[in-house]
Amino acid sequence: MPKNVVITGASSGIGEALAERFASQGYNLGLAARSVDKLDLLAEKLLQQYSVRIETVSLDVNDDARIPAVLDDLAKRLGSIDILVANAGIAGSRRSGTNDLSVDKAVFQTNLIGAIATLDAATNIFLAQGHGHLVGISSVSAFTPIPKSAAYSASKAALTNYMNAMRLELAGNNIKVTVIHPGFINTHLAPKMDKYPFVINADVAAKQMVHAIERKQTNPIIPALPWKGVKALLQIMPDSLMTLVMKNLVSKK
Ligand SMILES: NC(=O)c1ccc[n+]([C@@H]2O[C@H](COP(=O)([O-])OP(=O)(O)OC[C@H]3O[C@@H](n4cnc5c(N)ncnc54)[C@H](OP(=O)(O)O)[C@@H]3O)[C@@H](O)[C@H]2O)c1
Repeated sequence: MPKNVVITGASSGIGEALAERFASQGYNLGLAARSVDKLDLLAEKLLQQYSVRIETVSLDVNDDARIPAVLDDLAKRLGSIDILVANAGIAGSRRSGTNDLSVDKAVFQTNLIGAIATLDAATNIFLAQGHGHLVGISSVSAFTPIPKSAAYSASKAALTNYMNAMRLELAGNNIKVTVIHPGFINTHLAPKMDKYPFVINADVAAKQMVHAIERKQTNPIIPALPWKGVKALLQIMPDSLMTLVMKNLVSKK
């Protein structure tokens, strides 16, 4: 029985790679993003390769009041939604002390409030149908704070914590919750992503993410190595040493 997966931010990067990976494994797709022209091109390409159903929709996750209606409509068009991937997100770089919160506000709005609105609307559908799987794309920055990306790191830490609370709340409702923590993935999220440490391609990341989702893992880190080691190291590293390491990294930029 094919499953139906809805992915936000499916027009590029990780979302696009997830769409391709899920389609290659026989999942029907509901694809959402602001650039619906890109989604339609992606759908056309995937339909030539795979015998699946694909529905596309224009969605700005910052328009949170519209999200429930958009997901309800996708659920009707696909027959149901089994997996919802809240992937839409933006980066945002700024130095502290500039007296301008516009970057921070935009990052929190899209990465946290937009994701919460999407997850909440999907939960409403899942509670009514009696099953479902919520997936959020957080980041290793949830536990590895990145200088000049304080809002980004904090938005992802909040998303991780929010979704882990949802899992506890929804236990007993047949709703699974997976929070994915990608390391650096070569996408258009930020300039020169290909130069970041331990970077991997989006198709490699998507394969590992779908594997983790199918196994209903709770907090996978992708790729697991070296990031699990980095996370363990940071937990025992004194703040003074962490500050020294990051100071050197930032001063080189
Ligand atoms: N690349 C990495 O190293 C990395 C690491 C950790 C986590 N992540 C997370 O992975 C997710 C995907 O990022 P990516 O690396 O694939 O970047 P990307 O290539 O820039 O893709 C971002 C996607 O999000 C969509 N999006 C942005 N704002 C949106 C909005 N307001 N409403 C709806 N869709 C929106 C974009 O589509 P439209 O512009 O068409 O709307 C695009 O499809 C993000 O949440 C990001 O934080 C990425």
